[in-house]
Amino acid sequence: MAVKEARAPEPSPSQTEQEAQRLSDRGLAGLGWRDEEVERAARLTWKINVLKKETRAVIPAHVYQRAEVLIGVADFVADSYKLAKLCAQSRAERVIFCGVRFMAETAKVLSPEKEVLLPAPEAGCSLSESISAAQVRELKRRHPGAPVATYINTSAAVKAESDVIVTSANAPKILRKLYEKNETVIFVPDRMMGLNLARELGKAPGKELIVWDGSCLVHDNFDAASVEFYRKMYPGVKILAHFECSPGLTSVVDFVGGTGDMMKFVDEHRAPSYMLITECGLGDLARTRFPDKAFVPMCRLCPHMKATDLSRVLRALERPAASQRVEVPAFLRERARRPIERMFELAEDAGAA
Ligand code: 13P
Ligand code: SF4
Repeated sequence: MAVKEARAPEPSPSQTEQEAQRLSDRGLAGLGWRDEEVERAARLTWKINVLKKETRAVIPAHVYQRAEVLIGVADFVADSYKLAKLCAQSRAERVIFCGVRFMAETAKVLSPEKEVLLPAPEAGCSLSESISAAQVRELKRRHPGAPVATYINTSAAVKAESDVIVTSANAPKILRKLYEKNETVIFVPDRMMGLNLARELGKAPGKELIVWDGSCLVHDNFDAASVEFYRKMYPGVKILAHFECSPGLTSVVDFVGGTGDMMKFVDEHRAPSYMLITECGLGDLARTRFPDKAFVPMCRLCPHMKATDLSRVLRALERPAASQRVEVPAFLRERARRPIERMFELAEDAGAA
């Protein structure tokens, strides 16, 4: 494919001022950004937004991305499930994916005709890196006939070996569906999420639910022991934890789910304060979306998610480096696509529990 090059004009001082005001109003001021920092970001977001239109690009962004990316340039901000759907539905010719590699690969698998660019090409995921296609094949050999439900945080090669993909927004529903016809299900690669699912579905880990030993470097590290202490310190606090946290922790919090459902919970409840035990980006986004609600900080940064900054987004739009271009070989695309589409069918099947 021919490399498209484009160059954004420089914003005038009044355009920069207006853009800085927009960023402040949309939440950067509330997150404590200083005027000069907002102005520096505004010069970049202005250029990105001009080029985005000119090159018919769309910018999807995962909720863990930096606030200036979410507020300044993203066309849609969502969890892994919705990002996959929205990218497939988008009519844009170019996708500048502000997220990590497995997400951009999923977009390419679903829309091979689009040019998919990952501004931070090194942005991986500790879960995705924990399992290979050969290891999935070996699991299938050891558990013949058991369907493989694979978390979306995996490479296209691993997806290609799977029966169905799941995300934290739909894993319980899809696994329930699989158990209607199977006694044993293989779930890869997140061990913590696997154990959470086994408990929720009443299945024996290692027997009825075969789990892999991968973990998320962010969620694996939160400590269940301090939850009671925080409850005393912040009376009435609602504590929410991501599905990737340990079962010890998820058994003592008020809500367990993916990022989309955590945000929905905050939106739908009235509590004195909320603690979002997950990557820090979700708390920042919640503070900008719900400025009247109080949040107790408890988060860790994902180095992969934070690798995307505005200058790399601009580079991807102006003069994409070869390493920013996401390609998935055709033979893998076809095989990876089927289990992703099966997820869409099962997740949206009103008949499924
Ligand atoms: P969500 O699907 O809940 O957005 O999670 C993605 C992720 O990477 C969690 O660490
Ligand atoms: Fe992967 Fe964890 Fe980072 Fe999500 S937060 S991208 S699961 S390493």
